[in-house]
Amino acid sequence: MRRTLVAANWKMNGNKASNEALLDAFKKGFDGSADTAIFPPALYIPQLAESLKGTDIAFGVQNAYFQESGAFTGELALSMVKEFGCQYVLIGHSERREIFGETDALVAEKVAATLAAGLIPMLCVGETLAERESGVTETVVKTQIDAVLAKVGIAAFETIVVAYEPVWAIGTGKTASPEQAQEVHAFIRQLLVAEDAAVAAKTRILYGGSVKAASAEALFGQPDIDGGLVGGASLIADEFVAICNAAQG
Ligand code: 13P
Repeated sequence: MRRTLVAANWKMNGNKASNEALLDAFKKGFDGSADTAIFPPALYIPQLAESLKGTDIAFGVQNAYFQESGAFTGELALSMVKEFGCQYVLIGHSERREIFGETDALVAEKVAATLAAGLIPMLCVGETLAERESGVTETVVKTQIDAVLAKVGIAAFETIVVAYEPVWAIGTGKTASPEQAQEVHAFIRQLLVAEDAAVAAKTRILYGGSVKAASAEALFGQPDIDGGLVGGASLIADEFVAICNAAQG
């Protein structure tokens, strides 16, 4: 009942020419077996809107602010994001949390504002290596999810997509094993089940962290892994096409 969703997080990479090449190759190779969304740097959103017109490939921004307008230099309002045809907003990526100091409270504000704007939040959670090694993975993930639950309530998780991205697996080549990932995905789903089982059964929980074509099928085959959020491999057309096509619907 949960259709696989594979998302590309291009992070701060690309240029007009390389984006066009990547999008063209993706449009040619993608077999439609999953839902897909692409998160380019925000300046390239109009380029994606044009290129993806008439396809089912969605796109969104990697970050936005929760205030409606005003003196917030450098930020993007959700109304602006919507005006340019985005469907998704990536929120609380570990790079935003670590490098830009985003707190659970700010992340929860952004999720609420994204929902209010009629957009889909893709909420990232995940533990660092030190946290995993000290055995607090579940506590960390629960705290991150609870902050959002407290702000928007369980019903919002029919819309929200959760992305579990262990920080130690991001950009390191160290993919969590399918079993390791499934364990945390099942834990996240249980957190939601405790609030409302019917909603929890609908929430898509994606895995992110060094997903490659070679690992995608085994990851997506786990019962609580509903797709992937792909960084580095999403910049390589053949790899990303193969990851998307590994989805079984
Ligand atoms: P990598 O796939 O490069 O590990 O990045 C994962 C990620 O951070 C996606 O948001």
